[in-house]
Amino acid sequence: MLRRPRRNRKSEAIRSAIRETHMSPANLVSPLFLLPGQNKSEVIKSLPIASRMTLDFMLKEMEQSMEVGIDKFMIFPAIPAEHKDKVATYSYAEDNFYLEAARIIKREIPDATIISDVAMDPYSTDGHDGLVIDGEIVNDETLPILDKMAVAQAQAGFDIIGPSDMMDGRIESMRIAMDDAGYYTTSIMSYCAKYASGFYGPFRDALDSAPGFGDKKSYQMDPANKKEALIEAELDTLEGADFLMVKPALNYLDVIHVLNEEFDLPIAAYHVSGECAMLLAACDKGWLDYDVVMPETLMSIRRAGADVIMTYLAKSFGEFYNQ
Ligand code: PBG
Repeated sequence: MLRRPRRNRKSEAIRSAIRETHMSPANLVSPLFLLPGQNKSEVIKSLPIASRMTLDFMLKEMEQSMEVGIDKFMIFPAIPAEHKDKVATYSYAEDNFYLEAARIIKREIPDATIISDVAMDPYSTDGHDGLVIDGEIVNDETLPILDKMAVAQAQAGFDIIGPSDMMDGRIESMRIAMDDAGYYTTSIMSYCAKYASGFYGPFRDALDSAPGFGDKKSYQMDPANKKEALIEAELDTLEGADFLMVKPALNYLDVIHVLNEEFDLPIAAYHVSGECAMLLAACDKGWLDYDVVMPETLMSIRRAGADVIMTYLAKSFGEFYNQ
């Protein structure tokens, strides 16, 4: 036998010398759920590693995360029902607690990088990412609303704007609106290939943002499609996106791979709530070993071609990495 691949696996010294993929806390983003008010932190039943929390708790969570090298955060607001309407007015209102939180975070923890969410669903009585007219999720009429949301978020100090709405033409529209308002250094991380997935369940529980009627299949992508992701990626690149995101991650590793091969922009992947919940539930039952499968899972997303991974396991990985 001339070739014996096992020789290159015989010691940790050799294994670590030839390891092809590396991951550190710098690659990870921690998603956080913001509640209005103060002194509240509620564990999400279907995603027990995450909580919805008020800003005072969130600042502490961010500081703890920064200590283990997690310095990027994606923040989602839980909007009380009384602030919701048809046209998501509250999303760019002066007294919006989400925008106020961004201003305070940038003042209190200037080294934290914060990423926003742009979509109508948390603010809309219809619970859809776009404007609903006569039962239809309309595209072009949604864009000016998203533009106002993006500009308000850039103004509040978000470093990166995260459009998760999947409307056509929104990246260009937002880029122009932000540039016109002077926010040309604010980045855009486009949810580029976002699939109509069942794995967003715990997230919708956390924000109470399930669609009021129907589903999201007329704007989020069909899980059966891969070539369509190339079209989305090409458009978002031309329209001025700074990062291309694939979401979910684990069931779409092939999509991460192909976008990384075909496009020069950095690739982000969102290890979504349901993907994380499955892992936690199996570990909780003692069926899987968390300390082994947690890093293995995140590494698989890196190996597929993601530069940046959004994951509810970010702080936990940071602790593991630094121990
Ligand atoms: C909403 C949005 C969703 C997620 C991020 N932004 C849910 C949805 O599209 O219904 C899901 C994230 C997760 O499941 O962790 N625009």
